Amino acid sequence: MAIREIVKYGDPRLVAKNGIVEVYDDPGLAALLQDMKETCWAAPGVGLAAPQIGVSLRVAIVDLSVGKDPSQLIVLVNPVVVDTQGRIRDEEGCLSLPDLVETVDRPERVTVEAFDEHGDKRALDGRDLLARAFCHEVDHLDQRLFVDRLSPLKKGLLLRQVVKRQRKGTW
Ligand code: NI
Repeated sequence: MAIREIVKYGDPRLVAKNGIVEVYDDPGLAALLQDMKETCWAAPGVGLAAPQIGVSLRVAIVDLSVGKDPSQLIVLVNPVVVDTQGRIRDEEGCLSLPDLVETVDRPERVTVEAFDEHGDKRALDGRDLLARAFCHEVDHLDQRLFVDRLSPLKKGLLLRQVVKRQRKGTW
């Protein structure tokens, strides 16, 4: 088990197509999830998607407690957003775009259907920050980052900072 390197914006692995998980109760899937938890908690972050550690699979985790409360860890295998309600604007960031935050519109409530590591399908309801985290992680699996939800102007300003840091070698 290991803390893995988090892939940053600009890396092609973040925008690679992510395959569907077809085998559950699998040692490879269990090991992936363990690495994702350790990497997410160490970062620290409230969620992580497999492509962020360079694994092109539809797997993500969300843990608003960042490892403090095991009951808050949510495993999302092959998740699909099936319902959304309302709209809320709030600041959002991403471990693949370190130290950059911007206001992003997200649903206030969502229902996500996802499997756990054993292949049990569940419907998960989230509101506010949990809804935001679900949407953010499912977006990753669809090769979409929060900057892709911004206006072209705001996205451009934010990505200018990325380019600056890339040039300085601090990205
Ligand atoms: Ni992210």
